[in-house]
Amino acid sequence: GTGKFIVGGNWKCNGTAESVKSLVKELNSGKIDADVDVYVAPPFVFIPRVQKELNNKNYAVAAQNCWVSAGGAFTGEVSADMLADADIPWVILGHSERRALCGETNEFVGEKTKYALSKGLKVALCIGETLEQREAGTTLDICRAQLKAVNDVVTAADWENIVIAYEPVWAIGTGKVATPDQAQEVHAGIRKWCADNISPAIASKIRIQYGGSVNAGNCDELAQKEDIDGFLVGGASLIGEAFVTICNSAK
Ligand code: G3H
Repeated sequence: GTGKFIVGGNWKCNGTAESVKSLVKELNSGKIDADVDVYVAPPFVFIPRVQKELNNKNYAVAAQNCWVSAGGAFTGEVSADMLADADIPWVILGHSERRALCGETNEFVGEKTKYALSKGLKVALCIGETLEQREAGTTLDICRAQLKAVNDVVTAADWENIVIAYEPVWAIGTGKVATPDQAQEVHAGIRKWCADNISPAIASKIRIQYGGSVNAGNCDELAQKEDIDGFLVGGASLIGEAFVTICNSAK
């Protein structure tokens, strides 16, 4: 890809006021010298604290999810309008944990993406196959179907505000990172799909992050791969020093 490297930290449902405070402190003192875009996604309740205390200009704040449409009688949900209003520029959508545990379908993720983009948010769109699907040889079919459901409802220009996060489910939180070749193969397939179904111009500049057991020790080798344009990091994003190291793996 030709886009700027981009690393996201997905804190998932982790943290206390105290741990967030010390993580932000670590991030504030960590030195990022690579040319990289970075976002961190705290749980909703900690976002205001992070916005206030994270004073390292390298970081943007992201939400981990948002509702599919405007607000209203949707108990427990947070709308994209609210994120935009609260100066939260990014939202992660379609994470495999939400697909698997909260029943989010490809179409629902497509609608969420469309709505979030319409409110001016940037979207980190997560896709990826399960182990069963990989073993059945359907990895790219699964990724293409997840992308198609979004492409069916957004415009080609909308993709300028989307970053794709390829996260094989079997690699998430398992310590079983995809090999650089495994990741590169899927990233190249995703980019080709974008060229064929969105436009060659979008395909050449869309950023495709890899996610799944990325850590300070394996990021450099993955970052070398042609079609790996960044990472979406879970566990290691809770450790300030590790996350800064991963940000600095940008090529
Ligand atoms: O969104 C992040 C991914 O699910 C990766 O999580 O780095 O803990 O494997 P992990």
